[in-house]
Amino acid sequence: MQVAALTYEGQGKHKEAVAEIRAYHRHLCDVRVLDPACGSGNFLYVTLEHMKRLEGEVLNLLHDLGESQGLLELEGVTVDPHQFLGLEINPRAARIAEMVLWIGYLQWHFRTHGKVNPPEPVLRDFHNIEPRDALIAYDAVELLRDESGKPITRWDGITTKTSPITGEQVPDESAQVEQYIYRNPRKAEWPQAEYIVGNPPFIGAKMMRMALGDGYVDAIQTAWPEVPQATDFVLRWWHQAADLVANNRAKAFGFITSNSISQTFNRRVIEPFLEDEKHPLSLFFVIPDHPWVDSSDGAAVRIAITAGRAGLHEAVLLSFKREHDKGEHLMTTWSKCFPPLQVKPTRI
Ligand SMILES: C[S@@+](CC[C@H](N)C(=O)[O-])C[C@H]1O[C@@H](n2cnc3c(N)ncnc32)[C@H](O)[C@@H]1O
Repeated sequence: MQVAALTYEGQGKHKEAVAEIRAYHRHLCDVRVLDPACGSGNFLYVTLEHMKRLEGEVLNLLHDLGESQGLLELEGVTVDPHQFLGLEINPRAARIAEMVLWIGYLQWHFRTHGKVNPPEPVLRDFHNIEPRDALIAYDAVELLRDESGKPITRWDGITTKTSPITGEQVPDESAQVEQYIYRNPRKAEWPQAEYIVGNPPFIGAKMMRMALGDGYVDAIQTAWPEVPQATDFVLRWWHQAADLVANNRAKAFGFITSNSISQTFNRRVIEPFLEDEKHPLSLFFVIPDHPWVDSSDGAAVRIAITAGRAGLHEAVLLSFKREHDKGEHLMTTWSKCFPPLQVKPTRI
């Protein structure tokens, strides 16, 4: 866009140069980014910041060409929270995510425009953050009861206590949660977006029943028969995003997952996308293994980053070489493989 606009300007075609920039700006104000497990909106907030920065560069270019730029936002043409979509099962986190986006937007506005108020109404209900399950929809969820009508419960899968015999952490059976059954479970629809990002929950296949309960895992299996049960929970998100992108219903996706994504069982979900000759998917950016600190319990885990788009593309593969644990700081060095050795879809 910048090259085209400056070329027009150099040729004395000012109107065309301005039209080029404005068209790009309008496009920027339409791009939607979805985090289908958005938590309290950190990823969406960072994405908003990046897009606002990019918008700033575009508007500066307009300004350099002698065009007024401040008016656009007041006319409602600006990057704003309606473009940042989230699905989140925890309703409290979903509300926070919405607030985080508005705070980010307003901070940016006042940093850029000083005391000029944004267009009214300032806060709008875009329904961009949906408090719901990203994987399944269902007709009803019912509490399971035994013959006497007492709710059936299970260990919550999280709470532990110290064993008086071994001193190790063992399940604390007093921490019980109720069991549910899901009626008519089916795949949940995702809102339309050009880009999909996120770090959906890391739960290994073996832990799924313990962490989520039989009723939920059975519902997931009914809704997602194409994803083998013996794969990490996160692979359902990966599958959905890859399917949307491979079929040109989204432009690209990027996920942080546990690094077990490259293990044999989990590859059964990934490989069919990479090998599909009709609708091939390329992983254009991959870090197969990287240290990470789990936000829920602070545990050290290993993660992978995969980003995919439709078609056959070259890839950047970053492999983690060394880490020096210096107190809180993990320093990393990378070996970068670019251009890649293969133009075929990259495998991890
Ligand atoms: C690691 S956090 C994601 C953090 C997020 N990317 C951010 O920027 O803050 C994973 C989130 O997935 C949510 N989650 C778990 N299962 C879900 C489901 N089935 N549908 C939607 N969200 C889910 C959790 O409540 C949690 O907030």
